[in-house]
Amino acid sequence: MICLGIESSCDETAVAIINDKGEILAHQVITQFEEHSQYGGVVPEIASRSHLNYIDKLINKALFEANLSINDIDIFSAGNGPGLIGGVIVGVNMAKSLAFATNKPFIAVNHLEAHALMPMMFNKDLKFPYMLLLVSGGHTQILIVEGVGKYKMLGTTIDDACGECFDKVAKMLGWDYMGGKEIEKSAINGNPNAFDFPRPMLHSHDLNFSFSGLKTSVRTQIEKLKNIDEKTKSDICASFQSAIVEILDKKLISAIKQNKNIKYLVAGGGVSSNSAIRKTLETIGSDNNITVSFAPPKYCTDNGVMIAYAGILNYIAGKTSSLSTVPHPRWNLEDL
Ligand code: KG4
Ligand code: ZN
Repeated sequence: MICLGIESSCDETAVAIINDKGEILAHQVITQFEEHSQYGGVVPEIASRSHLNYIDKLINKALFEANLSINDIDIFSAGNGPGLIGGVIVGVNMAKSLAFATNKPFIAVNHLEAHALMPMMFNKDLKFPYMLLLVSGGHTQILIVEGVGKYKMLGTTIDDACGECFDKVAKMLGWDYMGGKEIEKSAINGNPNAFDFPRPMLHSHDLNFSFSGLKTSVRTQIEKLKNIDEKTKSDICASFQSAIVEILDKKLISAIKQNKNIKYLVAGGGVSSNSAIRKTLETIGSDNNITVSFAPPKYCTDNGVMIAYAGILNYIAGKTSSLSTVPHPRWNLEDL
């Protein structure tokens, strides 16, 4: 069984073709960095126009890479939200049109579910149920993944998402666009104890998060400093990252204490490509006798493979979507 998956919910136009053994036959991605960087963030209108401009070319390139024709595809899937609705409509309509033209099933994939299931593709021993730390640009959640389409929310952010906080701090330090990765790189040369940033809601007795106070504290600190040389920048990054890591660490440890039957812990979403966060999860795993799994870093950030893989797993679970399915700008995992 071969699935072609389309991701277009933010600033990446991606098309992947995979088979039901989890082999990647093609993966084509265009990052719209050039289009958005001058604006310091993703401009939704520009993103949708760019998806429209790239999508058919990428599909042709993916088919060429896989040495397949459109009629060899058995399932068409597309990220159906949550995300920037203009972009989502482009990908979904393309997948629907191809499904209609070839008389094959269409699967509307929840973008968060695609992040949530991705570690399974690379870790064949990972089994349901597992605990998931979902950390992306728009979401920060701890969930129990009971199966395809079956999610139990344990905690979520009450304000900013973790990735959003990385991006905003990066912007304060001069990295204009999606700077999470830049913070990680700079933090390597910094002292994590140089600045004492707050850890909001660490003792809140629930599994919810808050990041806006941390972001404000970093801003206040930056404003106090007159000159920020490279060493100070690295110290800010290391201290900020260490606050994030401690928050995620403590909340996950509480979640594990409250869910003693859990044997697997995974992380997904762009922020889970961060190596300090991955290291912390590994330690939690070894301390609690829990198996920890991730997708490789490049498949933690948005990509087409995760949409194709979630398409296959949904199809195997007996779920296909009608061609009249509408895209959702907001779409909780619990509502699946
Ligand atoms: O999952 P994703 O690609 O898109 C969304 O669904 O939101 O996540 C993007 C987020 C951005 O906030 C980006 O700065 C962050 O993931 N990110 C990172 C790293 N790589 C990407 N944050 C921290 N460390 C990284 N290495
Ligand atoms: Zn994402």
